[in-house]
Amino acid sequence: MSPFSLLFYLSSLAVLVDGKSLSYDWTVSFSHRAPLALTKQVIVINDQFPGPLLNATTNDALNINVHNNLTEAFLMTWNGLQMRRNSWQDGVQETNCPILPGQNWTYSFQVKDQIGSFFYFPSLLLHKAAGGYGPIRVNNREVIPIPFPQPHGDIDVLIGDWYSADHRDLRALLDNGTGLQNPSGILINGRGPNETVFEFQPGATYRLRISNVGLKTSLNFRIQDHLMLLVETEGSYTAQQTYSNLDIHVGQSSSVLVTAKNQTSGKSYYMVASSRLTDAELFGVGVIRYPNSDDFPSGPLPPGPQLHDYFYSIEQARSIRWNLSAGAARSNPQGSYHYGSINVSHTIVLRNGETDIKRHLYTVNGVSFVSQGTPLKMADYFELETLKTGIFPDTPTDNGISTLDTSVINANYREFYHLVFENPTPSLQTWHLDGYNFFVVG
Ligand SMILES: *[C@@H]1O[C@H](CO)[C@@H](O)[C@H](O)[C@H]1NC(C)=O
Ligand SMILES: *[C@@H]1O[C@H](CO)[C@@H](O)[C@H](O)[C@H]1NC(C)=O
Ligand SMILES: *[C@@H]1O[C@H](CO)[C@@H](O)[C@H](O)[C@H]1NC(C)=O
Ligand SMILES: *[C@@H]1O[C@H](CO)[C@@H](O)[C@H](O)[C@H]1NC(C)=O
Ligand SMILES: *[C@@H]1O[C@H](CO)[C@@H](O)[C@H](O)[C@H]1NC(C)=O
Ligand SMILES: *[C@@H]1O[C@H](CO)[C@@H](O)[C@H](O)[C@H]1NC(C)=O
Ligand SMILES: *[C@@H]1O[C@H](CO)[C@@H](O)[C@H](O)[C@H]1NC(C)=O
Ligand SMILES: *[C@@H]1O[C@H](CO)[C@@H](O)[C@H](O)[C@H]1NC(C)=O
Repeated sequence: MSPFSLLFYLSSLAVLVDGKSLSYDWTVSFSHRAPLALTKQVIVINDQFPGPLLNATTNDALNINVHNNLTEAFLMTWNGLQMRRNSWQDGVQETNCPILPGQNWTYSFQVKDQIGSFFYFPSLLLHKAAGGYGPIRVNNREVIPIPFPQPHGDIDVLIGDWYSADHRDLRALLDNGTGLQNPSGILINGRGPNETVFEFQPGATYRLRISNVGLKTSLNFRIQDHLMLLVETEGSYTAQQTYSNLDIHVGQSSSVLVTAKNQTSGKSYYMVASSRLTDAELFGVGVIRYPNSDDFPSGPLPPGPQLHDYFYSIEQARSIRWNLSAGAARSNPQGSYHYGSINVSHTIVLRNGETDIKRHLYTVNGVSFVSQGTPLKMADYFELETLKTGIFPDTPTDNGISTLDTSVINANYREFYHLVFENPTPSLQTWHLDGYNFFVVG
């Protein structure tokens, strides 16, 4: 697979004060659920799994008071929300102090200059394997029409792999060098096969906001006998194209329009999220019903691409294009720069790896990150000299030696960085480039 590269910029757009203020009060706790027959401790938010919808409009200010009722430290991260001026609110290990058991913390940020479908998830201690995730919508401001007719309804569809094992046991597997095995199955909105039911009204068009909230499995999404018009992906409206199935990798989100049939009796239909690019063939199955339709669909599940056909996945990704004439908030004012005329300050090659130094560790350029307890951003802000950090190597070393380090990439304000990702391992790797806006250039 050819490596792909990205280019990002550090921006300082003026803050316009508009939008409303939204407040949420969330309690995060353990509960017992059995999405795949086996009961396990699941992280619920206000007793819901998946967690409640975060429903905002461009430029709204959000205040989310998160009460940690777990017995472990907790952080929530807001995948896809850019936090450009406010990475203190990002909810990942080295920017925030964890919320300790019994304590609470209010995340406050503005969803500035963006639109789209995203999701939130817990970022520490493999909590994501226990749930704790939920959907985020950032709607267009009322004065800016969406680039398609107003759908009859919006439906959040969270798909992801699921382990029936407890997240602490999964952690133990990593810590004793065993590594993560294959997941037990695929969930749709937190539920097992045939358990999530979507009711369609005849002839109505729905916007499905699909996110892959899983730990590591790429998924192919499709609906029996229904086509999907892709209209948005990763927070940008796309040139509208029809697909019979869509690959959605871990962390990705897309919106599709699905038009219901005109039927008022008869069949119901399968919604499928099946594993891709892995040896474990797994199926998440939902049910779409119409008025007076059968309780369950019949016939085989609709077929998707070959399990190992990665070329298909790459070609499909390449077919997706921005619609730059669609009215929408954009993080970079159009024309503010042109790729090709930008002076790239640095190129950083990031090569992922895995190693077993007693524990099963993941590495980047041969370095496995070690936290020193104090978040690096805090240490930087308070100029804590006691924290010793290593400078992260700009290119991988080829000596095969892995080290443990609190390493940091130094970047300068307003410079442009070109990142090249290399994955020499036999399994697919996804990257979460938290807090920034990135542009895929190849
Ligand atoms: C989400 O917010 C928009 C804009 O305020 C509103 O029109 C819509 O009804 C809300 N949807 C839900 C499910 O709360
Ligand atoms: C969780 O909530 C219960 C019931 O309110 C309370 O008794 C318990 O102390 C809480 N635990 C933590 C860690 O906050
Ligand atoms: C904790 O929650 C209380 C209300 O339950 C709130 O008044 C307080 O500001 C919150 N503290 C933090 C640090 O967010
Ligand atoms: C792009 O958006 C514009 C404005 O809404 C719309 O008229 C046009 O059809 C869209 N183009 C494609 C290819 O989807
Ligand atoms: C590693 O931990 C898992 C989960 O606790 C356990 O089942 C397994 O036997 C352990 N393996 C070793 C080699 O200790
Ligand atoms: C449903 O029926 C209406 C009115 O007869 C028609 O305009 C529309 O195209 C039909 N939709 C589908 C999906 O067949
Ligand atoms: C539920 O879905 C599976 C496919 O995973 C299918 O084989 C089965 O027949 C369905 N069950 C019912 C009751 O329709
Ligand atoms: C890039 O650098 C060259 C030489 O210093 C300069 O002339 C040019 O304006 C720069 N381009 C941009 C987009 O900053």
